[in-house]
Amino acid sequence: MDIPNKDNQFPLAHYNKLVFLKNIISQPNIVVGDYTYYDDFVNPENFIRNVKYHFDFVGDKLIIGKFCMIASDVTFIMNGGNHLSKSISAYPFAIFGGDWKDAMKDKTYPYKGDTIIGNDVWLGYNTTIMPGVKIGDGAIIASNSTVVKNVEPYSIVGGNPARLIRKRFSDESIQILLKLKWWEWDIEKITQSIKILTGNDVDALKNLYNM
Ligand SMILES: CC(C)(COP(=O)(O)OP(=O)(O)OC[C@H]1O[C@@H](n2cnc3c(N)ncnc32)[C@H](O)[C@@H]1OP(=O)(O)O)[C@@H](O)C(=O)NCCC(=O)NCCS
Repeated sequence: MDIPNKDNQFPLAHYNKLVFLKNIISQPNIVVGDYTYYDDFVNPENFIRNVKYHFDFVGDKLIIGKFCMIASDVTFIMNGGNHLSKSISAYPFAIFGGDWKDAMKDKTYPYKGDTIIGNDVWLGYNTTIMPGVKIGDGAIIASNSTVVKNVEPYSIVGGNPARLIRKRFSDESIQILLKLKWWEWDIEKITQSIKILTGNDVDALKNLYNM
């Protein structure tokens, strides 16, 4: 078998703008699964520049599954960008110190938790993912969308704020796919199944593996 190497930073010969993303991530608060790729118009290091307001002292993580496709200019807004939104003023007085230093005493900035992108998720060009959003396996985010709420597995969402465009399969087929979790198979089995994975016959996949 001739299987592309997940540990190869630049998996496309003679092209240095697409990376298997995990190989350029050294930040402990970002976790990326095998074969997830990022393609940038200019420089794939821009991925990190587009993870915004991601401060160690906040403690939130960006977790991305396997086999995701991430287009240029995708941006993740993390929790460090949150101001008070239910107070009279959203102004962050405390950070400027002096007599303002205790402005946040007994108060906390809104915190929405980790950002979690499932497996086999396609994030279209220039999409923005807001803090704490969870995107289910197999979802597709249309180009230029801003995702403000969790996205169900195998759904296509788009717009600002992103709304459901359609489900990719019937509910029954989605349940089968979520049980099969093909991205967790060993890579030889995935390689043998590629023809069926790139088709749309979920029953064929189900029957092949006796589900
Ligand atoms: C989401 C996407 C996959 C849908 O493609 P499709 O299945 O061919 O869908 P259609 O073009 O038939 O559009 C279906 C509906 O989604 C809407 N839609 C499509 N793209 C949209 C977008 N970016 N934002 C908001 N709505 C969008 C259409 O207006 C249409 O709405 P309607 O049903 O009310 O008429 C595609 O529009 C897209 O955004 N692809 C991402 C491309 C990209 O960023 N590639 C980067 C390189 S990896």
